[in-house]
Amino acid sequence: MSAADNEFRPSSGSSGSPPLWSIARRSRYALQQGSRVALYTLHSEVMRRMNRRLQKELPETPKVVPEGPLPGQRRMLADIVKLFAEDLKAVENGLYPMPSDGTMTPRELLSTSRAFFRDVPQVARRRAAGAHQEVNEQADGFADALPRYYRQNFHFQTDGWLSQESARLYDFQVDVLFSGATAAMRRRALVPFADILRKKDQRRVAFVDLACGTGGLLHPALAAFPRLRGTGLDLSEPYLNVARERTPSKRASYVTAMAEDLPFADNSLDVVSCVFLFHELPPKIRRQVIAEVARVLKPGGSFLFVDSLQSGDVPEYDGLLSVFPQLFHEPYFTSYLDEDLTDLCANSGLQQQRWMTPAFVSRVVEFVKSS
Ligand SMILES: C[S@@+](CC[C@H](N)C(=O)[O-])C[C@H]1O[C@@H](n2cnc3c(N)ncnc32)[C@H](O)[C@@H]1O
Repeated sequence: MSAADNEFRPSSGSSGSPPLWSIARRSRYALQQGSRVALYTLHSEVMRRMNRRLQKELPETPKVVPEGPLPGQRRMLADIVKLFAEDLKAVENGLYPMPSDGTMTPRELLSTSRAFFRDVPQVARRRAAGAHQEVNEQADGFADALPRYYRQNFHFQTDGWLSQESARLYDFQVDVLFSGATAAMRRRALVPFADILRKKDQRRVAFVDLACGTGGLLHPALAAFPRLRGTGLDLSEPYLNVARERTPSKRASYVTAMAEDLPFADNSLDVVSCVFLFHELPPKIRRQVIAEVARVLKPGGSFLFVDSLQSGDVPEYDGLLSVFPQLFHEPYFTSYLDEDLTDLCANSGLQQQRWMTPAFVSRVVEFVKSS
């Protein structure tokens, strides 16, 4: 487990903090997150220039046509700042420890940055050619066993979900896309989670993070709640391997399985979370996952959901959402945008708690299984 896990002791609030300590903590947070935003924005800008040059050699690259309003740079920056302010407030209120988001040594940073830029022309080439089936052509025995809808080069990324190299690059690529704000968006799920745990003994809470990827939510959840155990479930063995490396805690376990066919007994889990999965699923599978979540949760158990904003959540972002599947291979994203998740979950006995909260380009919702 990380050093943060060992250090963190939940507090009842910030009221007792001496002002100087509070200023030091805020400065540390601003420095850490500010430098992340600068790092990933710089990468995004260099990538944009590379792509502009590459497109001259790849004239068949489809044109991007936004359908709806686009938020300006200033609006997006304001929403990122708002997200960070809420994140810091949660730290100050003792909900979770000061984040140590993706801390890399200069050497790791350099080699990941190089690998990222090496991949940019590959992604541009796939996008120009509309190529998203390479993983199928190279499929080995492990990939053959996976469902067809899953065996694609999602985002046009090299190897889709099917290699260690893709798993190692994933967090960096996503942070370039979200200007370094990805981890803060995920942490929004820890706010209702902390609320749920307030009434429970953490040691007795059965928690599973569906489609955990490289452990983006499992890691901070175990750091925030020092007695909680959690299982990360994913269909990608290579992504789970990276999650194991990053969160080798005794309180973490991992299982390779499909979210639509969960290897858990009926009414056995207290909390199921799921971050950035639903937009990657065909509508039929989305319904199966919801039915499975409803089956495995105990009555009164919670489903914590974080995924992309949907159409109309924040109307100023609608055009940007329409651009996303044009830039990246996201075959199910457009159907996700108009999916009535409140209704779908209600049909399976999962009632939406509170109003959906937008967090930059994500939406955070808690559903509770009817008792
Ligand atoms: C966009 S990533 C999100 C990963 C992680 N939750 C995060 O916050 O970064 C999608 C993940 O979903 C996994 N996945 C996709 N379809 C799945 C399914 N049907 N069952 C289990 N995992 C799935 C992929 O392997 C990948 O790790």
